[in-house]
Amino acid sequence: MKNATFILLFALLALMAACTKRVHYQDEHVDDSITPREKHRPLIHFTPPAHWMNDPNGMVYLDGEYHLFYQYYPDGTVWGPMHWGHAVSTDLLHWQHLPIALYPDSLGYIFSGSAVVDWKNTSGFGKNGKPPLVAIFTYHDMAAEKAGKTETQSQGIAYSNDQGRTWTKYADNPVIPNPGNMRDFRDPKVHWNVASQQWVMVLAVADHVEFWGSPNFKHWQRLSEFGKEWGAHGGVWECPDLFPMKVEGSDETRWVLLVSINPGAPNGGSGTQYFVGDFDGKTFTPDPSVQKNKPVWIDYGRDDYAGVTWSDIPARDGRRLFLGWMSNWDYATLVPTVSWRSAMTLPRSMNLQRSAQGYRLFSQPVKELHTLRQGKYTLQTRDINGTYELKSLQSIAAGAMEVVLEFEPAEGSATIFGLELYNNSGERYRIGYDAAAKQFFSDRRQSGKIAFSPKFATQIHTAPRFSSEKTVRMRILVDVASAEMFADEGSTVLTDVFFPNSDYNKARLFAENGTVRLISGEIFGLKSAIPPP
Ligand code: FRU
Repeated sequence: MKNATFILLFALLALMAACTKRVHYQDEHVDDSITPREKHRPLIHFTPPAHWMNDPNGMVYLDGEYHLFYQYYPDGTVWGPMHWGHAVSTDLLHWQHLPIALYPDSLGYIFSGSAVVDWKNTSGFGKNGKPPLVAIFTYHDMAAEKAGKTETQSQGIAYSNDQGRTWTKYADNPVIPNPGNMRDFRDPKVHWNVASQQWVMVLAVADHVEFWGSPNFKHWQRLSEFGKEWGAHGGVWECPDLFPMKVEGSDETRWVLLVSINPGAPNGGSGTQYFVGDFDGKTFTPDPSVQKNKPVWIDYGRDDYAGVTWSDIPARDGRRLFLGWMSNWDYATLVPTVSWRSAMTLPRSMNLQRSAQGYRLFSQPVKELHTLRQGKYTLQTRDINGTYELKSLQSIAAGAMEVVLEFEPAEGSATIFGLELYNNSGERYRIGYDAAAKQFFSDRRQSGKIAFSPKFATQIHTAPRFSSEKTVRMRILVDVASAEMFADEGSTVLTDVFFPNSDYNKARLFAENGTVRLISGEIFGLKSAIPPP
């Protein structure tokens, strides 16, 4: 009897120990699944498996796959001899890494450029009745640069007959040699122009863009130029894009010209401005509403650069899909990640709207993002004065999440309000709206690791509010190392990266200098889109 009691007691203790252990293990397990395997590695943003990445290149859709090529240096984590890295996705979120697509050769490094489907086989590169993919890129001759020459950049082409898996460079490259003495002559983006029935290339040339036309990618003729007296000129123009867009709610079509510039962005360093106008197949004419010296920006944050749009999105889809490099040349080579450097922004769908100030681009993350949602927290209407902890969020705050908040600032109040992410070491990141200044803002000054560059976190980053609606709507996509805010249906966008020493595991809403009414709030956890280890 004594023995039996003893055995029972022992079994009970063993069971309790096992349970405690299991509970403990489960807790740890939960932590593991929300903590990226590598420090600062995003969960829902594209990153290269290892090494250096900058601009997105050659974005094109074919046979159910979105292709993403990118400026890539496979032998280091700072910029070096440029290759085109490559990945494909069927949903713009889960990416399959593929072998390097283009390697440097005797003509130079492979700089930024585009890719298109040559549906009519104008290039003659097609095989077995299948249209080829054609890539158009800049060669940068480093040997010439080192020898002190300025004519280092020319345009080359390559083609693929196997869905981008392997590429053949054209034997007679370059197809556009450097005109001589033109240091900045790069980043060709090509589309099939219906009006002029030819391929049209937009090319960045120092302080302007040039338009070139070709029947077959091999022979190009210079058509016109635009921009010397337009927009921002604090730095060199790079990575342009030109495409038509239907104006929302009308049958009108306008042409949008994206131009990245470095430095010279509104909050310092690299950024992307845009112009809306007409393109007749040869010449770009800005709309009369465009003001020469008042540039408008696709994103006011510091970490969205060199972004362009996907080619050949099927008409039945009809979206204009954009993606940028989520970094800034001010500090890109110094950011504190170890095995790789930098991520892309989330892919975004853009539309064009006519406002009192002129035509404006609105951006939203692609709708496919909904498929990553897991778990929803709804916030009730309440007044906020000080801070309001989002306690139920703690289990997901260190991962990726989507936060949708609607606020109404109290009449006459100078309130500053928004979302704060923070951790146990007192590091915090704030993103929100300043009602008195009528500006959205992002503050990473106390966000964690900031000392790696004196240019990283010196000031609060601001973005103008364009909407005059009473309700301020913020949709904020938070990942391990970034926040992207799409405010007022996407009319103001602000993207910033950050590097906390330990992941932010808590979140709260805040209101300073007065009271703000939270009208509604929805928060979704987002599943990781990177494959498990
Ligand atoms: C923009 C850019 C491009 C160039 C590429 C080189 O970030 O400077 O103009 O083609 O990067 O990697």
